[in-house]
Amino acid sequence: MSSDSGSKVHVVIQQGMVADLLRSKLDDDVELHAVPTIDSGEVEEVLPEADALISNRITAEIASNALGLRLIQTTGIGTDAIELTSVPAGAVVCNVRGHENAVTEYAFMVMLALLRDLPGLERRIRSGDWSDRNAAPKLELRGRTLGLIGLGSIGREAARLAHAFGMSVSAITRHPDPERARELGIDQVAGFDHLHDLLREADIVLLAVPSSEETRNLIGEREFELMKPDSFLVNVARGNVVDEAALYRALSEKQIAGAGIDVWYQYPTSASAQVLPSRHPFHELDNVIMTPHIAGWTDGTTNARLDQIVENLRRLKTGEAFLNVVFGNRSGASSD
Ligand SMILES: NC(=O)c1ccc[n+]([C@@H]2O[C@H](COP(=O)([O-])OP(=O)(O)OC[C@H]3O[C@@H](n4cnc5c(N)ncnc54)[C@H](OP(=O)(O)O)[C@@H]3O)[C@@H](O)[C@H]2O)c1
Repeated sequence: MSSDSGSKVHVVIQQGMVADLLRSKLDDDVELHAVPTIDSGEVEEVLPEADALISNRITAEIASNALGLRLIQTTGIGTDAIELTSVPAGAVVCNVRGHENAVTEYAFMVMLALLRDLPGLERRIRSGDWSDRNAAPKLELRGRTLGLIGLGSIGREAARLAHAFGMSVSAITRHPDPERARELGIDQVAGFDHLHDLLREADIVLLAVPSSEETRNLIGEREFELMKPDSFLVNVARGNVVDEAALYRALSEKQIAGAGIDVWYQYPTSASAQVLPSRHPFHELDNVIMTPHIAGWTDGTTNARLDQIVENLRRLKTGEAFLNVVFGNRSGASSD
């Protein structure tokens, strides 16, 4: 399908809430084809003719059927499920941002809930058990050390909020520039070669790095051994940044006090599928708060991301440079 001025731009997207919200924001010159899944038979009919695919995942098989694509647009920041080697020659890959407030609010919600044992308090009072009033006092954030791994948009926002809570902040970053640390109000900043020092000192470790070759299994058996037994881990990054078996062991054997985990090891391929998030029974542990990769899914993030997607579809039609290009030649006017 041509997207010359005056004709429609054809866009394929998986059915669901994002498709519904996006449809309400699009002009008549964009034709949105919502398919049950991007692996479904139906996609084979529309994909060869599509100008854009909105998806967080693309495989060689899907791409081989989509040679006319000019834009592959994700609905989140992560592009780890896009097989870059299979991206059609004329297409660029763009991601979206705007999640840093939502994810950081989530991280602090989980930190507070872990330190106060909110799930346990709630469960016990529901059965008439008031014993927490005579148990050891719960913990505060104030005075504790947040160990930040990654100083991107989430890491920077987390440093700002940690300060407001009266915490100390240590960070591990690829760019341990003291000037940058001072600007962000970070007490200690170091390179990844100091990861083990940070793990020894932190009361709460927050993972905020992308999934990549360098970050895969960054936290494993050895790293859990170094963490304090009364410390907590919060993972809002990607499941594979933490070794799955080592995490289960660290929690079930109380090597660390607890964890808040939003990102996992097994995902459903359709919205209605029931899939446990790991091959290990995390759901049987009472020292983990589990959520279904939802940290960024708020009104603020969604509005910001939909605006960026609508803008890229408009640029697809006009030929202007795309926003947030992460792969491909049609470089963006802006990368924020
Ligand atoms: N759970 C959710 O709903 C949700 C939502 C949004 C994002 N996320 C995850 O959170 C991650 C971080 O988000 P963000 O907005 O902070 O991303 P970002 O702004 O792109 O920052 C990521 C930071 O990670 C650090 N980093 C360390 N090793 C890296 C490597 N090998 N390659 C690239 N960066 C590396 C970099 O910090 P330095 O330059 O300081 O080293 C970089 O700035 C995302 O990539 C995504 O996986 C999850």
